[in-house]
Amino acid sequence: MRRFWYAKYAATLLASTALTFHLLHSTTTHVKVDSENIFRDYEKPTEGRTANTFTKSSSYLRRKLSQGIFATPRNHVVSPRWTVLPGNITIHEGDEHVPLDISFDIKAENLCEDLDFTKKMLLVFVASSADHFSQRKVIRETWGLKQLQQAFNYRIMFLLGKGDQDSQPQIEHEGYRYGDLVQINLTESFRNLGRKSVAGLLWSKNFCARADFVMKMDDDILIHIPNLLKALESWTRTDSLLMCHENRMRKILRKELLDRTDLPPSYHKYEVSQNELPGQYYPPYCSGMAYVFASSVRDRLLEASLATPIFFIEDVYLTGFCRHKAGIVIRPHSGITLRPPIKSHQASCSFRDGRITSQEVGADELHLMWVELNTQGFFCPQLLGYANKRKQFDSARNEISSL
Ligand SMILES: *[C@@H]1O[C@H](CO)[C@@H](O)[C@H](O)[C@H]1NC(C)=O
Ligand SMILES: *[C@@H]1O[C@H](CO)[C@@H](O)[C@H](O)[C@H]1NC(C)=O
Repeated sequence: MRRFWYAKYAATLLASTALTFHLLHSTTTHVKVDSENIFRDYEKPTEGRTANTFTKSSSYLRRKLSQGIFATPRNHVVSPRWTVLPGNITIHEGDEHVPLDISFDIKAENLCEDLDFTKKMLLVFVASSADHFSQRKVIRETWGLKQLQQAFNYRIMFLLGKGDQDSQPQIEHEGYRYGDLVQINLTESFRNLGRKSVAGLLWSKNFCARADFVMKMDDDILIHIPNLLKALESWTRTDSLLMCHENRMRKILRKELLDRTDLPPSYHKYEVSQNELPGQYYPPYCSGMAYVFASSVRDRLLEASLATPIFFIEDVYLTGFCRHKAGIVIRPHSGITLRPPIKSHQASCSFRDGRITSQEVGADELHLMWVELNTQGFFCPQLLGYANKRKQFDSARNEISSL
């Protein structure tokens, strides 16, 4: 893995150096980087290339140049805009500051205080909805047990927006009792999820700065913490780690496409108009149910997000557009997946091979799965390895995403 990384790094350096050389010698007064040409010469995205290809984009090369590493003139300013790359992949360019107008009304400021800083520290922030009382309860009673958090040196924070006025006293009570709630002054809504995740990053930087890793996840997933920690340990270079289930070449869902195909109704909330976003494909991004990253990646994502207008699909926004702008590479992990669904009576077998996440589950099912996970004997019923099953699901899914 390490050697591979070096090779890739060397290739990037070479490409950047060659580009710099070319630029310095083609124009002496004004350096103009033409993204068309960069992509034609270095990394025109074509079918079958890896996602890493896309991350080293024109803006990445530009930034490498503008960091002065190769003593390039710093007079190239990119105006903020959505840009469609060859291949019809949309990215955002530009450094103009976009303010994030939120306040933390419940703060949980002591949550990370007693983390053991002699060991690796993990913060998990769970994007929860204000009225999801039972989901939070079951997480606290299962993989979020206080004693487990102490033993494995992680902390769970629940990130809420504003729900009903009526439920606010109950939320405040919950926050006071458990000390793990953070509430921002945004109404709970699908369109606000992008902003909510940025708020999660900001909170983690302000109130849990010592954590080595941060995980963002939804509140209907079971996380196998020991497997997660093992996966994190296996990376020697963790300072640039962003690990998740990667979505490549996903179509931007337009009204015409939704009308024409019989995708389930749940897809309709992802409809995006041409006015909101041009192009046809998102850059590669992480599935938002669970993605984990180093604290340095958090800081780079946060910085990029403050120069990228909020887009409502949270995972596309942070791990697609902002990640791309920050020049971060996705490290896919096969254990972070929803498929195949884990049957609760086989839970301990399903997690045996290093799987990290369950599928989306209700509170009762999560509880049942947890009990089975911890009490089943050493004998696993006959079970196909999830890796095999995943292949089938992946090919089925690719058919959907290539619509
Ligand atoms: C990009 O979009 C244009 C216009 O819709 C289309 O003609 C072209 O075939 C697309 N290219 C790719 C690679 O999808
Ligand atoms: C949230 O708080 C910030 C900072 O006080 C403020 O600027 C913003 O307008 C508030 N937003 C909402 C939706 O109330």
